[in-house]
Amino acid sequence: MDLSTLTGSIWRELELANTDRQHQWRTPVLASIDTNGLPQARTVVLRKACHHTQTLQFFSDARSPKVAQLRASGQIQLVFWSSALKWQLRVSAQARVETSGAEVDKAWQGIKLGPARQDYLSPFAPGDALPNTVTTALDESPHLAIISAEVIHMDWLSLSSEGHQRAEISATAVRWLTP
Ligand SMILES: Cc1cc2nc3c(=O)[nH]c(=O)nc-3n(C[C@H](O)[C@H](O)[C@H](O)COP(=O)(O)O)c2cc1C
Repeated sequence: MDLSTLTGSIWRELELANTDRQHQWRTPVLASIDTNGLPQARTVVLRKACHHTQTLQFFSDARSPKVAQLRASGQIQLVFWSSALKWQLRVSAQARVETSGAEVDKAWQGIKLGPARQDYLSPFAPGDALPNTVTTALDESPHLAIISAEVIHMDWLSLSSEGHQRAEISATAVRWLTP
C-alpha cells in the first residue's frame, strides 16, 4: 500500500460499503459515551459515506439511548473490520443528530416503502420492556434520527503474513505507525 493513495482507497471502500450489501464494512460498531461516562458500543448500518465532506451517516430510532448519548456527547468512535480486505478501520468522529427537517423527511421517503419502515414506527422505544398485551398498532409518524459523523481521525490496520501495516490519517498528517 502506498501512503499517497491510502486515504482515497479507504474512502472508496467506505463508499462501496454504503452501496454493496455484502461489504463487511457495511455494519461497523459505533462506540459512544453514556451520561455516566461509560462506554457503549453497538452495531449499526452505514447509510452514507462521502469522501468530499468527510462524513458518514447512520439511521436510528430517535428514542434510542444512543441518540440521547450522542446529544450529550458527540465524540464517537467507529470500528470497521473486513476479513475480505483484512483491514480494520477505527474512525474517531464528531456526531450530530437530526430528528426533523428536510434531510430526515427525504430519508423517510425512501425507508417508508420498504420493510424497515416498521422499525421506525413502533409505539415503544428501543430498550423499553415489552408490555404483556400484544399490540400490532404502529405510530403514525416515524421516530427516525439521522446520525452524521464528521471524521476527525482514522487509524487503519492491514493484516498480512508478509507484514502488517498501520497508518494514521488526520487533517494534518498521513503517516505510518508501528502495527
Ligand atoms: C447487523 C446489525 C445492524 C444494526 N443496525 C442498526 C442501525 O443501523 N441503527 C440502529 O439504531 N441500530 C442498529 N442495530 C441495533 C443496535 O446494535 C442496538 O442493539 C440498538 O440500536 C440499541 O442500541 P442503544 O441502546 O445503544 O441505542 C443493528 C444491529 C445489528 C446486529
